[in-house]
Amino acid sequence: MDTTQIQQAAEILHRAQRVAVLTGAGISAESGVPTFRGKDGLWKQFRAEDLATPEAFARDPKLVWEWYNWRRGIVGRAEPNPGHTVLAKWEKVFPEFGLITQNVDGLHARAGSLNLLELHGNIWKTRCTREETVAENFESPLKIIPPTCPNCGALLRPHIVWFGESLDPGVLQPAFSLSAQCDVMLVIGTSAFVQPAASLPLQAADAGAKLIEINPGPTPLTPFVDVFLPGKAGEILPEIDRGLIQIGRP
Ligand code: OAD
Repeated sequence: MDTTQIQQAAEILHRAQRVAVLTGAGISAESGVPTFRGKDGLWKQFRAEDLATPEAFARDPKLVWEWYNWRRGIVGRAEPNPGHTVLAKWEKVFPEFGLITQNVDGLHARAGSLNLLELHGNIWKTRCTREETVAENFESPLKIIPPTCPNCGALLRPHIVWFGESLDPGVLQPAFSLSAQCDVMLVIGTSAFVQPAASLPLQAADAGAKLIEINPGPTPLTPFVDVFLPGKAGEILPEIDRGLIQIGRP
């Protein structure tokens, strides 16, 4: 890794008051959580239309829950990595810091991030298909599949945004505000392929923010970023953090 690029990123961050971060599956890759579109990505092994759409759930809720159960097992065994840890630390370092994630694994929260917007939901939450009530559920594996609502008896579904569904405006609106108001946005470990998440960095750049991207390879967003740091989030984020400490940010 080119140290001048790390330094450049550290200097941009050092000057920033408002920092926004958008993460994707890549930040959890070093924790052992599979990504979606990489070589061994989930969408290479499974068909999204069989498992991650409202139609798939209506057709076969047991099959869908079995898949989420399997993923709960993987995520439950995973630990946050140094990438998650640095982002949790930065929340306390910058005057304003907001983290937007497309991940449903809950690893950012486990690393200690509090100011967190989970755009695509959370694998450790269920939602009643009748009452829409969202509840935390950490069973792994779930004892009864498919689970039902303790209140009304209707089917519970994973609290995850599936293909063809809209994002919760209560999460999306603050994500857009954060993007419009930040001085810098870090884009980490996302293929920048899924909308509307992929448009957040472009909105930030339009509003004058600097963009820093961390990813082992280029993405459709790379031509628009100020600094592209090729490599792994769990290695590069600690390097930027060391750069910030050298400049004088704790
Ligand atoms: P993808 O699987 O599409 O992209 C993961 C990105 O992470 C790729 O660009 C990789 O190059 C990069 N990557 C891999 N290892 C990395 C590492 N160690 N450090 C940094 N980057 C690394 O995942 P997302 O962009 O998150 O939706 O996918 C977006 C959405 O599509 C997901 O939220 C999911 C999926 O369908 C839902 O679950 C609703």
